[in-house]
Amino acid sequence: MNPGRGFTRLPSVPAATTPTEPGTGQRVAVVTGASSGIGEATARLLARKGWRCILVARREDRLLALADELGAEVELCDVGDRGAVDAMAARVLERHPAVHLLVNNAGMPARGTFLAVDPDLVARVMEVNYLGGVWCTRALLPGLRWAASAGASAHVVNLVSVAGTAAFAPAGAYAASKHAQLAFSRSLSASLRGTGIAVHTVLPGFVETEGFPQKGVLRSRLLGRFVIQPPQVAEAIVAAVEKGKREVTVPWFPYRLVSILQALAPGLIGRFSGMSDYRPGSV
Ligand SMILES: NC(=O)c1ccc[n+]([C@@H]2O[C@H](COP(=O)([O-])OP(=O)(O)OC[C@H]3O[C@@H](n4cnc5c(N)ncnc54)[C@H](OP(=O)(O)O)[C@@H]3O)[C@@H](O)[C@H]2O)c1
Repeated sequence: MNPGRGFTRLPSVPAATTPTEPGTGQRVAVVTGASSGIGEATARLLARKGWRCILVARREDRLLALADELGAEVELCDVGDRGAVDAMAARVLERHPAVHLLVNNAGMPARGTFLAVDPDLVARVMEVNYLGGVWCTRALLPGLRWAASAGASAHVVNLVSVAGTAAFAPAGAYAASKHAQLAFSRSLSASLRGTGIAVHTVLPGFVETEGFPQKGVLRSRLLGRFVIQPPQVAEAIVAAVEKGKREVTVPWFPYRLVSILQALAPGLIGRFSGMSDYRPGSV
């Protein structure tokens, strides 16, 4: 597969509903990392609500199957490759000059401490988790601006993580990438104030997905009780857009407390992280 190659898959059935913003047709959502987990669940929910989804990821078979089911479009793209992202965005904007929603969700794990992981993985996780969202936002900004100027609302959702607020030693490089992504999201929100483009930051705790198989990784039964499923995060993403929520932790308890504790008592989180309930090297 050529990750930079993209194409349109015409829907097998026309979209049944077309909820419209004034002066526009069906609302258009670009969802990165839509081939599994949270991205797939989000695309499913958006499609149910009548959005026209553009599914972005690298696994062609997964995307094509989902696109057929949802009446969506497919773009094959490695979001860590800036040239590929620019090419993807150019194709999308040619078909859809107005983009009403960008969900920067594509992401990868980096299991192991900073001292243990391969240096290439330290760099790669930054390229994908942090820079991927930056490149997608910059490249699709003309479409978001178009939607906002046409009287519709435009939104960017950044899928960060509680690991963006608390530094967990067993996933050091991953946490650093999510800290960078959180700074990007907050700073973007301030930069776009007054433009009609709203930025929403969603911070999930443990979610059971292919890339992040939490149940098999967590040793603690207590932590295992707080593992949620992708549709719950998808609901939070759509609610953030619909209700204009700037920053959302999913679920609020206990993860928001972790973020607050990291800010107020970093030493405590450091001690907990050091004696972590993860299996060594598995997150
Ligand atoms: N699961 C959790 O516990 C958890 C918690 C907090 C935050 N998150 C965040 O949620 C987001 C989604 O993760 P998930 O849990 O749903 O995991 P997942 O099921 O593994 O999904 C990851 C998605 O990202 C795509 N992706 C990975 N690298 C990519 C690349 N270089 N270019 C384009 N697409 C890429 C994958 O598709 P392809 O492989 O087909 O490209 C896949 O669709 C990530 O940003 C993750 O950091 C997850």
